[in-house]
Amino acid sequence: MSRSHLSSVVFSLVMGPLCVALSTGSGSVHAQVPIFVRGDADGNQDRQITDAILVLNWLFTGGRPPVCLPVADSNADGLVNISDPVALLGHLFLGNPAPAPLSAAEISVCGGVDPEAVARGMKEFEQPDPNGNPFACATCHSMSPDEGADLLRPGHTLLNSLTRPNYKGTATANFVGAVNVCRNDWMAVVDPAPPGNFKPWLETDSRFKDLVAFIKSLQTEDQSPALQFEIVAPAQSGPPTQGEAAAGCKLFNRSCRICHGLDAKGSELGPSLLDVTTLCQENPGGLCLNANCEPMTAACLDNPDYIRYRIRLSGPNHPGQVYNVPQGFTLAGTVMPFWSRDKLSDGEVEDLTAYILAARSAVRQGMEFDCNTQPNPDGKVLRRGKFTGLLHGVKGNAEELDTRKIRLTEFSYDGGGISVKVWLYNRGGNIRNGRAIGPELKGLPMSNTTFVVDIPAEVALDSFDSVSIWCVSVRQDFGHAEMTPVP
Ligand code: HEC
Ligand code: HEC
Repeated sequence: MSRSHLSSVVFSLVMGPLCVALSTGSGSVHAQVPIFVRGDADGNQDRQITDAILVLNWLFTGGRPPVCLPVADSNADGLVNISDPVALLGHLFLGNPAPAPLSAAEISVCGGVDPEAVARGMKEFEQPDPNGNPFACATCHSMSPDEGADLLRPGHTLLNSLTRPNYKGTATANFVGAVNVCRNDWMAVVDPAPPGNFKPWLETDSRFKDLVAFIKSLQTEDQSPALQFEIVAPAQSGPPTQGEAAAGCKLFNRSCRICHGLDAKGSELGPSLLDVTTLCQENPGGLCLNANCEPMTAACLDNPDYIRYRIRLSGPNHPGQVYNVPQGFTLAGTVMPFWSRDKLSDGEVEDLTAYILAARSAVRQGMEFDCNTQPNPDGKVLRRGKFTGLLHGVKGNAEELDTRKIRLTEFSYDGGGISVKVWLYNRGGNIRNGRAIGPELKGLPMSNTTFVVDIPAEVALDSFDSVSIWCVSVRQDFGHAEMTPVP
C-alpha cells in the first residue's frame, strides 16, 4: 500500500452503544465525573419509575433530594413540581417523548459533563480524522490501563492523561500540544484550505473540547505521573540469531497486527509484510533508502537491521524527512510509530525480526508460516452452534474443541464497540454472569475468518454452553451462538 493509497482508504469504526464505563479483564474503570440525564433523579444513568418516586417523596414526604435539580425537571419548564414525575411516568409508560437533553447551563449546575459532548468526543477518539489517514487515536492508544491489555499498542493509555504534569517526555508542556503532534506526525492531518498545511487544534476548538470531555468522563485520578518511556536504537545487528520466530509470530499478532493484519497479511491500516517484491512495487519512492536517499531494493527491505530500525525508530512522515542510521541505509519518514523499550524489549524486537524473515521465506516457498495463533485444525469439535447476530455484523459459528479452545469459523464482526470480548455463558442462567476470554476484539474487523481462543484452565467446561461476542463496557450482546453437542 503506497502512502497516497493509505490516505485515501475510507475507514470507519462503526460506533457501538455508548460505552462510557470501560471495563477490562483486569477490573473496571468507572467514570469519576458524573454524567447527568434529565429525568434520572437518582443519577444512576437510567430513567426509571424509581426516579419519579424519588421526586414525589422529596416533594411531599421529605425524602432524599434528587442528585441535582435540573435532572428532576423532567418537563424542562425550569421548575421542579408534581408535573415532572408525571411527565417522566408519561414517557416511561405511555410512550410520550423522552425528556429533553439538559442544556449546557444545566449540566454545569449539576457539575457534570455533557453526555452529548462525551459521545461526540468518543467518536473523535475512535474515528480517523476526515482530513487525515485511516488512523484514529484508538489505533495507537487505549482508554484502559496499559497493564493486562491483550492488545499491545504503540502509544500509552490516555486514561488519566489529562492530569499528567507534562507530555512526550517533557517535550510538550500541555495536552493539546501533545495531541497536535500525533495528529501531525501519525495521522497526517492536512488542512483542506489552503491544502497541504497542518492546522493545529486550539484549546478552544470544539472538536478538541469534545475529545477532552470524553477522556475526562473516564478519569479516575486527579493527579497522575508523567509517562516514562525510552526511544532507543536497536540493540542488535546482523542476522537475528537470538530471535525466536514462533514467539515473534505470537507477539506480532498481539501488536503489529493492529495495522499489518493477522499473520502480517496486511489491513486497511498497513501493508502486508510478507512479499518484499510487492512492498517495493507499492512504494515506488521507496521506504528503505541508501545513504544518498536512493531507493533500495528488496534486499534492503530484507535486511534485518532495516526491520529493527523500523520498529524502534520509525519517525514522522514529514516531507523530505529522512533518518540516518549507521548501517548504511536511511529510513524515510513514515506514519508507522516507533515502539519504545517499555512497549517492546530488545529480545522481543529480535523475535519479531526473526518472525518477519521466517514468514517471508515460507511465502517464497509457497507455504505459510505456521504460528500457533493461526487457526488450529487439530482438535475434535465437541459442541457447535451458529451465531444469531444482533449488532456490529456478528455472524458465523462457534465450536468448542477438545483441546480446550473455542474456534469461531466463517466469523465476521465489524470491529465496533469499545471493549469487546468472546464471552462464555450458560443459557440456563443470566448472560451477564458469563466470563470474558481471549484478546480484545474491538478495532479488529473480521470477515469470514477462523479465529481461535483458549479456554482458561479455571473454566469448567460444564459451566457454559453458549458463546457471545460481548461489549464488556456496557454488557451488551452483539450476537451469540448456543452450542449443542456434535455426535
Ligand atoms: C499511529 C499511532 C498514533 C496515533 C494515531 C495517535 N498517537 Fe498519540 N502517541 C503515539 C505515540 C507512539 C506516542 C508517544 C508514546 C506515548 O506517549 O504513548 C504518543 C503520545 C501521545 C500523547 C502524549 C502522552 C504523554 O503523556 O506523553 C498524547 C496526549 C497523545 N498521544 C494523544 C493522542 C490523541 C488524542 C490522538 C488522536 C487525535 C493520538 N494521540 C493519535 C502514537 C499515536
Ligand atoms: C499504527 C499502524 C502500524 C503499526 C501498529 C505497525 N506498523 Fe509497521 N508500518 C505501518 C505502515 C503504514 C507502514 C508503511 C509505511 C508507510 O506507508 O508510511 C509500515 C511499514 C513497516 C515496515 C516496512 C515495510 C517496508 O516496505 O519498508 C516494517 C518492517 C514494519 N512496518 C514492521 C512493523 C512491526 C514489526 C510492527 C509491530 C512491532 C509494526 N510494523 C507496527 C503501520 C504500522
